[in-house]
Amino acid sequence: MNGENGTRSYTLRIWRQDGPDRPGRFVEYPVSGIDPNMSFLEMLDQLNEELLRHGERAIEFDSDCREGICGTCGVCIDGRPHGPVPNTTTCTLRMREFPDGATITVEPFRAKAFPVVKDLVVDRSAFDRIVQKGGFVSVNVGSAPEANTVLVPKDVAEEAMDSAACIGCGACVAACPNASAALFVGAKIRHLRLMPHGQPERRRRVLSMVAQMDEEGFGNCSNHGECEAACPKSISIENIATMRREYWLALLGLL
Ligand code: SF4
Ligand code: FES
Repeated sequence: MNGENGTRSYTLRIWRQDGPDRPGRFVEYPVSGIDPNMSFLEMLDQLNEELLRHGERAIEFDSDCREGICGTCGVCIDGRPHGPVPNTTTCTLRMREFPDGATITVEPFRAKAFPVVKDLVVDRSAFDRIVQKGGFVSVNVGSAPEANTVLVPKDVAEEAMDSAACIGCGACVAACPNASAALFVGAKIRHLRLMPHGQPERRRRVLSMVAQMDEEGFGNCSNHGECEAACPKSISIENIATMRREYWLALLGLL
């Protein structure tokens, strides 16, 4: 480490774009005094303070929870959605993962259905519109029942929870060569498919969510598996198989 108190220096190549219809380009920024325990977003905060001190426009990026929960913060780091560390969101990524002196390339998620708003910010409202088509339960299930009266086997509840862990970040779309949203949609469908209160609307749910996914301009899944590798929540591609099975059962009138 070459800085004071073990701090590090980097060259950042960051995508700058003034608006959705403006051309974008990479701009290089040297940064120094970076504590290895800083998060990636804290490092960007430090750069932004420096830019503002010099009267320049800050780099736009999204974040909210900064704890890997909300799914807003995703960017591509050195070509990988959320960066080089598996099962880690951009906000929970630490600068110690990058060697001192490294050049780091940062750009927005690239997908037709996720248009760039500004710099690193993309519009992921296509996901919201898919969920609005069926990623919910509209029957009245009353208030929360006493846990021991709900007859859901533990392994099934855990499987449902594994799917429910999807935070809607969009890394699966950014990683897929077809920009497919199949992992995200599959996770939403499998989560409710496994639970008793998800049964009455199974048919409508899968047909309308898949139709909306196609309408939003996401590509088709061709089993590359890049989505699963990029997912910070370890959502399995088995969720895509479940979605396909549900879809065909619905088309055949078997749901
Ligand atoms: S499936 Fe994984 S990568 Fe895709 S939106 Fe959900 S959490 Fe993000
Ligand atoms: S800011 Fe919420 S998941 Fe990263």
